[in-house]
Amino acid sequence: MTHYYIEELSKYVGDEVEIKGWVYNKRSSGKIRFIIVRDGTGIVQCIMMKNAISEEVFTKFDELTQESSLIVVGKVRKENRAPGGYELEISDIKIVNIAKDYPITPKEHGIEFLSDIRHLWLRSSRQHAIMRIRHQIIRAIREFFDNRGFLLLDAPIFTPAACEGTSTLFETEYFDLGKAYLTQSGQLYGEAGALAFGKIYVFGPTFRAEKSKTRRHLTEFWMVEPEVAWNDLNDNMELAEEFLEYIVTSVLNNRQQELKVLERNTEYLEKVKKPFPRVSYDEAVDILKKNGIAFEWGNDFGGTDETIISNQFDRPVIVHRYPSEVKAFYMKRDPENPKVALAMDVLAPEGYGEIVGGSQREDDYDTLLSRINEHKLPVEAFEWYLDLRRYGSVPHAGFGLGVERTVSWICGLEHIRETIPFPRMIYRLTP
Ligand code: 4AD
Ligand code: MG
Repeated sequence: MTHYYIEELSKYVGDEVEIKGWVYNKRSSGKIRFIIVRDGTGIVQCIMMKNAISEEVFTKFDELTQESSLIVVGKVRKENRAPGGYELEISDIKIVNIAKDYPITPKEHGIEFLSDIRHLWLRSSRQHAIMRIRHQIIRAIREFFDNRGFLLLDAPIFTPAACEGTSTLFETEYFDLGKAYLTQSGQLYGEAGALAFGKIYVFGPTFRAEKSKTRRHLTEFWMVEPEVAWNDLNDNMELAEEFLEYIVTSVLNNRQQELKVLERNTEYLEKVKKPFPRVSYDEAVDILKKNGIAFEWGNDFGGTDETIISNQFDRPVIVHRYPSEVKAFYMKRDPENPKVALAMDVLAPEGYGEIVGGSQREDDYDTLLSRINEHKLPVEAFEWYLDLRRYGSVPHAGFGLGVERTVSWICGLEHIRETIPFPRMIYRLTP
């Protein structure tokens, strides 16, 4: 018999079908018994009547426990009162595996307990909703760039040097070649790609030995990084806002049901339309001062500062021209004010903070070389990167979007740990 999936049962009303899944729940009222089955695509109520079925099949009900695996054969019926609108009138059941004492019950569990059994927690409906929205976001990211002629360029994970500061590097021994570091960002390779192919995006896992235990930090996260030859800071900001609008619209158009499961208020999401407000770092500092924060020019914004700034606006806000001292070595300085870099961050609304960081890149050989030295980075490891300024250097710009921060914001989550199947944080490496 063909294997049918629950999400497509509406097409088979009146037919006898076979579904394969797990027991989500069961209940009984005398001569009628209900088994709620999930198969990963949905949930269906399967019903059996004592008089309409053999004793052998009817009593299998007693053996079934939560998360036992089974194959159910039955006729599809439209039933408005059933969850999902359809139910299955059981004619046969095959038990595949009986789950003994499944640890997650319908009662409330603590977050540490659930995190320890993340491999099972992923079966619950809330996690399903988050993972489907994550998938939608990733699909939208690929669609956006693919439809605009960007080439997907995969950057290496083992790298010889730092890209985003030396304090968050994961280090490992690399045969006879000394130390290797897990990539913090594929950007430098993306720049080589942009000068080879014009416009590219790097999309992969990145690593930061973040010592911070916040609701925004993972040690392993996914980043997508477009890089475009000939783009300046302004083009970069336009690309970022068009991109974010595309992602949010794609989730709103395709994942309403999941947003409902998460009880997400979508009011703010519906406002994510370009153009986004743009404020310079200087203007952002004024906003903080007006809100009673004793902020000193030259510092980087903390989580609370970002929340105060973004609370002034009803959609994501772009902050540009940060002090070059707090930003990465590769960022080009503003020719009109060398104290600031041609950098930009996008801050998400509702206190979700920075989701995008990017800049126009330093394209002058001599200036870049002195920046590498000022940052005490090993020049030998950057010779190939300097080649990009030796041979046909052009203005170029790009940015990085953190997938998990984006999922957290769009889903309206309290903590980033639920945005990725198996989160890696300073205090968590398992399961
Ligand atoms: O601002 P970041 O550090 O920028 C870069 O890495 C650039 N090389 C990107 C580029 O221009 N190509 O990181 C970019 C984004 C942040 O805005 C944030 O969304 C995410 O990556 N991010 C993290 N997400 C989760 N956990 C962490 N520890 C993160 N660190 C950065
Ligand atoms: Mg940043």
